[in-house]
Amino acid sequence: MKDSRIATARLGVQGPEVGVQGLGCMAMSFAYGPSDAGESRATLERALELGVTLYDTADAYGAGENEKFLAPFFKAHRDEVVIATKFGLAIHPDDPTKRIIRNDTPYIRQCVEASLKRLDVEAIDLYYMHRRDVDVPLEETVAVMAELVREGKVKHLGLSEVTATELRAAHAVHPIAAVQSEWSLFSRDIETHVVPAARELGVTLVPYSPLGRGFLTGSFAKAEDLTAGDFRRQQPRYTGENAVANAALLDPIRTVAEAHGAALGQIALAWVQQRASVHGLPIVPIPGTRKPARVEENAAATRIVLGEEELALLEPIAAKVSGNRYTDMSFTSAGRE
Ligand SMILES: NC(=O)c1ccc[n+]([C@@H]2O[C@H](COP(=O)([O-])OP(=O)(O)OC[C@H]3O[C@@H](n4cnc5c(N)ncnc54)[C@H](OP(=O)(O)O)[C@@H]3O)[C@@H](O)[C@H]2O)c1
Repeated sequence: MKDSRIATARLGVQGPEVGVQGLGCMAMSFAYGPSDAGESRATLERALELGVTLYDTADAYGAGENEKFLAPFFKAHRDEVVIATKFGLAIHPDDPTKRIIRNDTPYIRQCVEASLKRLDVEAIDLYYMHRRDVDVPLEETVAVMAELVREGKVKHLGLSEVTATELRAAHAVHPIAAVQSEWSLFSRDIETHVVPAARELGVTLVPYSPLGRGFLTGSFAKAEDLTAGDFRRQQPRYTGENAVANAALLDPIRTVAEAHGAALGQIALAWVQQRASVHGLPIVPIPGTRKPARVEENAAATRIVLGEEELALLEPIAAKVSGNRYTDMSFTSAGRE
């Protein structure tokens, strides 16, 4: 059973059929401390063998390094993989360690050419706006993205961390195949507005950080234990007293995991999948890992079914989480709703 391929789901109404779980590739080059390139490459290959076909990157992950790292893997398997990348987080003109949000037309045009070059492909399968620049009308941004589709540079459009209102406005300009937002046992804010809107419009949800950036697997207990420069050291919910309080919230996950003979992370992934089916919404979560054994474990979670009592045990967790998922929530849909 371990080696059988995972089920599939469609991205939007007209988008491609992909494995029901994708792979987040960000940490192979960025954000979560040092990576072993050989191990990351083995993870990509193992994922594909398991039927994971949606690979998630962004131009901001390591200032283009992540796209370049993935390019040879994509080249070797171009017909089997669905490549998702993003624009919208630009390097700050005065401080290269900082980012600013940009959605203006010249910037998008420059980004798409740079991503195509780094990825070494003729077209990007799914092109996301990574973050919303509230100073640029969204309809204008999506109109430019739609031009990229007409020009053959991009096949399908996605948006990340948009509100339900923004999603509706965008979808009226051009069909949106996918919305990528944080969704996990610890982050359920999108269930109020974004999830119902996506369901109504036929947009597939791509939950990012479904493992709570690793915290829900129990693989780290507090961000201070992680290497210097690890992005999670800045995240309010994983630091100081918040992390201590939040670690106690893993107990019900542990109970359910023991009953299934499963790992904690597998229960977190099974929960997202099942929560989406309660909403009647197709989803393709993109857990991130750089280890082949973990991609196997994560893919196997697509076959775990949680019982009603187990779901009830997990239900109260999110409301008890201490600390926000970002320092500045205005960058998220919840911060603008
Ligand atoms: N749109 C956005 O704004 C946005 C924001 C954040 C992330 N993303 C995307 O979403 C993807 C996933 O999110 P994420 O990486 O932030 O968080 P995540 O998937 O919730 O968790 C990733 C972390 O969990 C660890 N992990 C993965 N599988 C594990 C397992 N089976 N057992 C124990 N630990 C495990 C990983 O470590 P190892 O890597 O060492 O295995 C990594 O530290 C990213 O790669 C990126 O592509 C998008």
